[in-house]
This record gives sequence, structure tokens and C-alpha cells, in this order.
Amino acid sequence: MSTQKALYVPEKQAPFKIGDAPLYEPGPKEVLVKLFATALNPVDWKIQTYGYFITNYPTILGTDAAGVVEKVGSEVTNVAKGDKVVFQGWFENKYATFQQYTLVPAEITAKIPENISFDQAASVPLTLATVLIPNFNHNPEGNTANFTAPWEEGGKEKYAGKPAFIVGGSSSVGQYAIQVAKLSGYSPIITTASLRNEALLKSFGATAVIDRSLPAPEILAEIQKITGGKPVEYAYDAISLADTQALAYDALAPGGTLIIVLDESVPAEKKKASDDKRVVHAFGSVHPPENRAVGVEIYKRLSEWLRTGVIVPNHVEVLPNGLAGIPDGLQRMKEDKVSATKLIARPQETA
Ligand SMILES: NC(=O)c1ccc[n+]([C@@H]2O[C@H](COP(=O)([O-])OP(=O)(O)OC[C@H]3O[C@@H](n4cnc5c(N)ncnc54)[C@H](OP(=O)(O)O)[C@@H]3O)[C@@H](O)[C@H]2O)c1
Repeated sequence: MSTQKALYVPEKQAPFKIGDAPLYEPGPKEVLVKLFATALNPVDWKIQTYGYFITNYPTILGTDAAGVVEKVGSEVTNVAKGDKVVFQGWFENKYATFQQYTLVPAEITAKIPENISFDQAASVPLTLATVLIPNFNHNPEGNTANFTAPWEEGGKEKYAGKPAFIVGGSSSVGQYAIQVAKLSGYSPIITTASLRNEALLKSFGATAVIDRSLPAPEILAEIQKITGGKPVEYAYDAISLADTQALAYDALAPGGTLIIVLDESVPAEKKKASDDKRVVHAFGSVHPPENRAVGVEIYKRLSEWLRTGVIVPNHVEVLPNGLAGIPDGLQRMKEDKVSATKLIARPQETA
């Protein structure tokens, strides 16, 4: 076998199409993985719809995957043929995950523990990285708050008992933002979501879930009540639309840090130099050089976090028809019809 199936965007903003792709040869530090699950992310429909970010077409999208190592490069020692692994893909065809086989640098793979399925594992990489990297990257070239990580000395004590505010706790990113805030010791952990998701978010460590449909002044008053007036020095906006950024910025105390996931749109009139509020734009990929070292630290620990439940995957919904089911799934995400769930495709089920 020298070819495999892939889901292409044949040219900028063109509809998705299934086609053949080559079976890639791993470099010395890479592995070839047979993919049993890949997850859908908003960035996939945004690239196809708006045509940004990618310049080379035909292109393969997809950045989340779980599968079995098929072939290892000559210098790889941490994984072997037959291992089940989870990893993040990248927007270059040989590293993308909307296909049946892909390559990945071995240092940013983690073995999947027995208690986690391929489908669950694939829900983790991109969105967990989008929380961990902007919080804990120490490379000044990266977009980072440069906080002390929970796996570093003092990282579990430094933020203990400080309030955290997470906008959009039921989004995939938000679910990991809650879990990571818990790991860092923040308390209380306050989030906004539709209240039907309250029990789930509390199971991840949220201490209070505020109805996201309330007007901003009511949400701010509720936060004040919950913290007893303690300053909120850390906010994470997993939605980052204009209104949510304004809300998160207002909730933040002077000197605080807000992490956002889309371009900054905090209204200029809200910004006072004397407030000294920091806004960090997340770039959630472990692939680029400025994020790689923290990426390796994450992947060294991911297997154990999943095994022990420190990180719990999103609820998953498996789409039908393998890679061919992805476009409909992306359409549902685009129409805001997915709540607290990660959509998963199984590339090997492609006809
Ligand atoms: N910068 C980066 O590197 C990076 C990486 C990954 C993702 N992102 C971006 O991060 C955003 C979230 O991605 P995702 O995969 O986590 O999305 P997702 O899981 O598809 O988000 C769906 C969830 O968003 C919630 N939501 C929608 N509008 C909301 C609002 N106004 N307030 C609070 N919650 C709201 C919904 O909550 P309810 O159902 O509870 O109402 C729903 O559960 C996307 O814009 C994505 O493009 C950026």
C-alpha cells in the first residue's frame, strides 16, 4: 500500500473533497501513525470558509489525533511500533490529521492509557495546549503569561486560593481551562456557560457556573458576590468574541492577566494605563519552535494525567462515515449547534 485516504480542501475556500494522499516516510525523530480518531475544531471550518492561514493548496486540515504507531524514525526511543499514541497535528499535509496516516515528531506524542479510548484521547491535544501554553510557556518568543506551571517548584502554591474567571467553561478549550485552573490551585473557579452544563463543569472543578445569557453587569455582580470582593487576577476567555472579551477585561483586577483565544477586541475606552491589565493571545500549538519546549513538558506528563483523571477528556460524539462525515460536523459547529461536546471522526471508517 502506498496511498491512503485524506480529506482535502482542494483550493482556497473550495468545498472539502476526499482524495488520495501518499504514505509519508518518518524522518529520524518522527513516527508514522495510523489514525483511529481525529477531532474537529472551529479553526478547521474557519480556514475552509475564510481562506486564511494556509497558503499551499490542496491542503489537509485537522490537528487532533489518536492512533497506533506504524513506523518509527531511526532516532526514536520513547515510542515503538504498535504503541497507542495521542498527539497534536499541524497544518502541513504530512502532519495534518484529517487523513488515515500522518507523521508527528516523537517528542510530542504521549501513550494512551488503558482507561482512555482513541475517541476520547483525540479530544485533548489542541484545546489543552491552548490553555497550557499561554499560561506556562517560559520562552519569551511565545505568547505567554509566563506563570509557574503546576509541575514546577511552587506552581501548586503560588495561585492557591486566588479566584479565576473562565468565560465559556463548556467549550472544549474552557473545559480544560477549568481543569488546569484546578491543577494550579485557583479558588474559587468561576465560569460562564449555559446552565444545562453546570453539573459537568462542576465535575471538572468549577466552583460556580453563571448563566452566560445574563447581562454583563449581572455577571460581574455575581462574580463579586462569589469572591467576596477578592481581586480576580486571572481570567481566561475561551470564547473571545467582542462581548466576552469586554466582560473578562472588566472582571479582571488591576495588574491581572487575561488570556484570549482570538484576536484582541477589548474596547480601547476600557483600557486605562493605570490598570496595567495584561492581555495574552494564546497560540495553542506544540509544534512551532517557540512553543516546543513547553510542548515536550506537556507530552511527558499527558499519559499520567489521563490515567489518573487529572485531565478528563471532553464528552465525545463520533460522526458517521469516517473522514467523509467531517464537513457536516464542521457545519454544525459553525452554526453553534454543538454544546459541551467534541465531534470525532474515525479515519479508518472512510469508504
Ligand atoms: N488561539 C488558539 O490557538 C486557539 C486554539 C483552539 C481554539 N481556539 C478558538 O477558541 C474558541 C473555542 O474553541 P472550542 O473548540 O473550545 O469551541 P467549542 O467547544 O466548539 O465551543 C462550543 C461551546 O461554546 C460555548 N459558548 C458559545 N458562545 C459562548 C458565550 N458567549 N459565552 C460562553 N460560552 C459560549 C457553548 O456553550 P453552551 O453550550 O454552554 O452555551 C458551547 O459549549 C474558538 O473560537 C476557536 O477557534 C483558538
